[in-house]
Amino acid sequence: MTNPIPFIDLPAQRRRLGPALDEAVARVMDHCGFILGREVDAFESALREFTGARYALGVASGTDALALVLMAKGVRPGDAILVPAFTFAATAEVVVWLGATPIFCDVEEETFNLSPDSLVRGIETARAMNLRPVGVIAVDLYGRPADYDRIEPIVADAGMWLLTDAAQSFGTTYKGRTVGTIGLATATSFFPSKPLGAYGDAGALFTDDEALATTVISMRMHGMGAAAYDHVEIGMNGRLDAMQAAILVEKLKIFPDEIAARRRVAARYNEGLSGVARTPAISEEEPSVWAQYTLRIAPDARDGFRAALQERGVPTAVHYPKPLNQQPAYARFPSAGNGVPVSERLAREVVSLPMHAYLDEATQDRVIEAVRAAL
Ligand SMILES: Cc1ncc(COP(=O)(O)O)c(C=O)c1O
Repeated sequence: MTNPIPFIDLPAQRRRLGPALDEAVARVMDHCGFILGREVDAFESALREFTGARYALGVASGTDALALVLMAKGVRPGDAILVPAFTFAATAEVVVWLGATPIFCDVEEETFNLSPDSLVRGIETARAMNLRPVGVIAVDLYGRPADYDRIEPIVADAGMWLLTDAAQSFGTTYKGRTVGTIGLATATSFFPSKPLGAYGDAGALFTDDEALATTVISMRMHGMGAAAYDHVEIGMNGRLDAMQAAILVEKLKIFPDEIAARRRVAARYNEGLSGVARTPAISEEEPSVWAQYTLRIAPDARDGFRAALQERGVPTAVHYPKPLNQQPAYARFPSAGNGVPVSERLAREVVSLPMHAYLDEATQDRVIEAVRAAL
């Protein structure tokens, strides 16, 4: 096998950031304030500036960001939360934590994102089951924003709130609106492999809603009140730590440049592979940050395709091999209307190629060549 290509090249980014990261970490080790504190304040302030959101709150993970919004909204048994079936499990997991019912909606063929038509059917399904449809979690899968112009009026007409799961899309915009300012709140993840990744678990949530922000600030720290050991809410330990914040402050500085590089890589893949494979759509109005660059391959050819690439040192990944409605832990929850056939088909067809800001042209040509040869 030829020299293996990394799927994501974090060491290349580490080399670029050089001593800035060492110094950031050393500052935290010197002052020994490890939880929240000045680095988290600085990161939150940089996030507010980056997104334009009124509140940016650092939390321990993307999952906690989602959960904290649901907790602050008082989600409880009998509530239904509409989520896409084709997403990472965390989107639905937090709903189940609170005893509410996730209703799986289908996604759109071209964008992989929540289908507004299926969302309407999902709301009907919830009502038919005597559940209260209170909220929607729309996911910006692979880094491309969902169709908010169509989703927002459906959510508003039904008297629900919209939480956007931007774990994969932080850094982009939707028709000129920054991700982080759409819906009641936005949750994102800084898991190391995300477009903006920490050196461990980390996340953030964004909102313009003062009451929600105040409740989340309390809930991320065990529901604390104004005084120490005064508990006014049932909360959790969802705090961001200073080391991650210090690292993220440095990484955020180069993030716009990295996003531009990801976009160049995606455009170059599309150029090199169009006509050979089913390539993802590139949208000017709803640009992706390319958390993943994902092809579609006929289901019966996918395993062979992946093996052929592996043979040439090109790793691939499948996000995700099953939609949530087919996962053992989630199969008991309802799907919208007539089910989620697009999600089920996509799960059998998608394959992601190496994608990161440091993929040089020669290496990318090796990937393109391997794909062309395999097909
Ligand atoms: C769509 C989606 N939602 C939620 C999460 C959860 O984020 P975290 O791993 O930071 O908890 C992830 C990433 O892992 C994700 O991809």
